[in-house]
Amino acid sequence: MKVLLTGAAGFIGSHIAGALRTAGHEVVGVDALLPQAHGDGSTSPEGVVAGDVRDPALLDRLLRGIDVVCHQAASVGNGVDAQDLPGYAAHNDHGTATLLAAMARAGTSRLVLASSVVVYGEGRFVCPRDGDVPPAPRRADDLARGRFDPRCPRCDGEITPRLVEESAPFAPRSGYAASKVAQEHYTASWCTLESAHAVALRYHNAYGPGMPADTPYSGVAAIFRSALERGEAPRVFEDGRQLRDFVHVADIARANVLAVEAVGAGPPGLRAFNVCSGRTFTIGDMAARMSEVLGGPEPEITGEHRSFDVRHVAACPEAAREELGFEAAVGPEVGIGELATASLRHR
Ligand code: UD1
Repeated sequence: MKVLLTGAAGFIGSHIAGALRTAGHEVVGVDALLPQAHGDGSTSPEGVVAGDVRDPALLDRLLRGIDVVCHQAASVGNGVDAQDLPGYAAHNDHGTATLLAAMARAGTSRLVLASSVVVYGEGRFVCPRDGDVPPAPRRADDLARGRFDPRCPRCDGEITPRLVEESAPFAPRSGYAASKVAQEHYTASWCTLESAHAVALRYHNAYGPGMPADTPYSGVAAIFRSALERGEAPRVFEDGRQLRDFVHVADIARANVLAVEAVGAGPPGLRAFNVCSGRTFTIGDMAARMSEVLGGPEPEITGEHRSFDVRHVAACPEAAREELGFEAAVGPEVGIGELATASLRHR
């Protein structure tokens, strides 16, 4: 198939480009080379057109003869402050809307969209009294006392996190998360208008070779790795017991190949899938594993708390396994160990 891959020069996009080509697909790559990810004055990697998905004329040209679009281009990270909000709206919301309009003009009706587990916010928990609940917002007095787990919104009691399925309601907590929800909504509306097909892949915490090194927008794995390289202890926030699902970028790339090949089967509309390893890991354990591999100082548990952080992220991998045939191949113990010595991307 001929695939237009947006964000083709990025961390995840470049792995997808390789996986699509290995699977025998023709890839047309485009990337805006945002300074946030690529630094100033970057040149495009071979086979990638330098351009912005908000440019309708460029899209009209690039979409000729395209069977499927794989849309990875986005402004990423959690955001640092309110000044980041217009960037998320511009690149993610407006970029996706412009792409969908161009696809309608070109008659291209199959899309794979990079979404994120951040659409669920704090996710779902189980209360022994009230059952399946969304957690109440974490209270300042709890956090100040070092109680980091959220409480039941009804009885105020202790609750435990459970795996989140794709049917869980949207509850975005950051500008980035809001833009990922918006991308899914625009896509669903395009599917209705055009009788088109889309698959949204909700990535968990992506990591692996080529991950952006230490920037305010980097994920925690790269931040810990960069600290250890400087001979410093990884600084673990809260009590280190917060859960995440780390999914290797090679697995994310494979999920995209499967989605590119599957999108278009079945009735029109948007289908969403969690893309995760299915194995949760605490942030404290992840830091300890990296320190161990690099022979660095033990992690420091700081007790700090960031207002936009969610406590636990744990989602169910079943739907992707059943409907896309996707199962992660790289477990976090092995993958995080390898990341300790892998090459990272510097701006
Ligand atoms: C990350 C991504 C987000 C993506 C999501 C998918 C970033 C910045 N965030 O969100 O874009 O959609 O995965 O699951 O890339 N922490 C520390 N020390 C640090 C930094 C962070 O202990 O120096 C802790 C945080 O408090 C948090 C956890 O590590 O509990 C994960 O943080 P981080 O990787 O920044 O973001 P996520 O919310 O998991």
